[in-house]
Amino acid sequence: MTPPSDPHAILDAELLRGRELVAAAGSLEALEEAETSALGRKAPLAGVQRSLGELPDDVRREVGRRTNEVREALRAAVADRRGELEAARDASLALADRIDVTLPGRRLRPGSLNPLTIVEYQIVDVFTRMGYRVVEGPEIETDWYNFQALNIPPDHPARSEKDTLFLDVPGNPDLLLRTETSAIQIRTMEQQQPPVYVIAPGRVFRQDTPDPTHTPVFHQVEGLAVDEGITMADLKGTLASFARAMFGEDTRIRFIPDFFPFVEPGVELAVTCFVCHGTGCRTCKQEGWIELAGAGMVHPNVLRAVGYDPERYTGFAFGMGIERVAMPVFGISDIRLFYDNDVRFLGQFEGVAAAR
Ligand code: DAH
Repeated sequence: MTPPSDPHAILDAELLRGRELVAAAGSLEALEEAETSALGRKAPLAGVQRSLGELPDDVRREVGRRTNEVREALRAAVADRRGELEAARDASLALADRIDVTLPGRRLRPGSLNPLTIVEYQIVDVFTRMGYRVVEGPEIETDWYNFQALNIPPDHPARSEKDTLFLDVPGNPDLLLRTETSAIQIRTMEQQQPPVYVIAPGRVFRQDTPDPTHTPVFHQVEGLAVDEGITMADLKGTLASFARAMFGEDTRIRFIPDFFPFVEPGVELAVTCFVCHGTGCRTCKQEGWIELAGAGMVHPNVLRAVGYDPERYTGFAFGMGIERVAMPVFGISDIRLFYDNDVRFLGQFEGVAAAR
């Protein structure tokens, strides 16, 4: 290698150039490039260093000393600039990540259960605590489960096209949407021997035009107990305990004779109004009582239909309308609100405790 014409001139120029490069570096990456350019193996400074050996003795010392000085000066400049750039980077990171602890938190909006679900869970919970087992049945039923086995004769008005939604399935004239959860009684008894203690919630379907008190789809909870020696007193005691657990200790129940083909005797269950406690108010329409369910002693024909011996076993059953419970409980005056999926309605039940 030929020695640089004037090593001192190169060193002067390199010191200047290097300082300018370093000062101009706007980022840590740019600074690295500047460092390589000023101090790297291919930098003119390194060239001077390499050629020291070819210099005459008298100049080598001086040029070597100056080369070191320039290198140290440039290294110091790089280190200073790096410190500045790192501080700037840290500051901007801190700014980007900063959390303003004085801002109000973002409120999470958990979904809420439909009030019908809340009430269903509450009813089912009361009965499971009494030892009842939860069972379900299909929403599409056959004539046998929905009618015949429930002692509903072919000419019974409940069978009429007016009430029942029949399915138009070719080759299967028997299918319909269950009109009551009572059909689950039959399916349960078919599958087991007494003792039977079950609670069966579900959707039921009827041909109804929606209005404030009717919807073609609504919900029931069916209860069934079959065992040796079950009497009407057991039915009354069970429903009275349920009413107290559900609506409060001072709740009383009332039975009024009623007719359902699958029970004998049959009753209509009412509870003292849980708003006015029986004195009369808007919720109970000044009656003091709220009707909740049909009930009765399981008809011997129903026991026979599933192969139970009615001489040995007796039982009671009840069917409660979930909407009928939920409407007075929540002060809801139009049954259609349950099905509109309007969040302004549904949001009101956020945080309402549901059993389970
Ligand atoms: N299934 C009846 C209805 O939908 C309600 C009912 C009445 C159910 C009496 C029963 C019962 O289990 O014993 O109106």
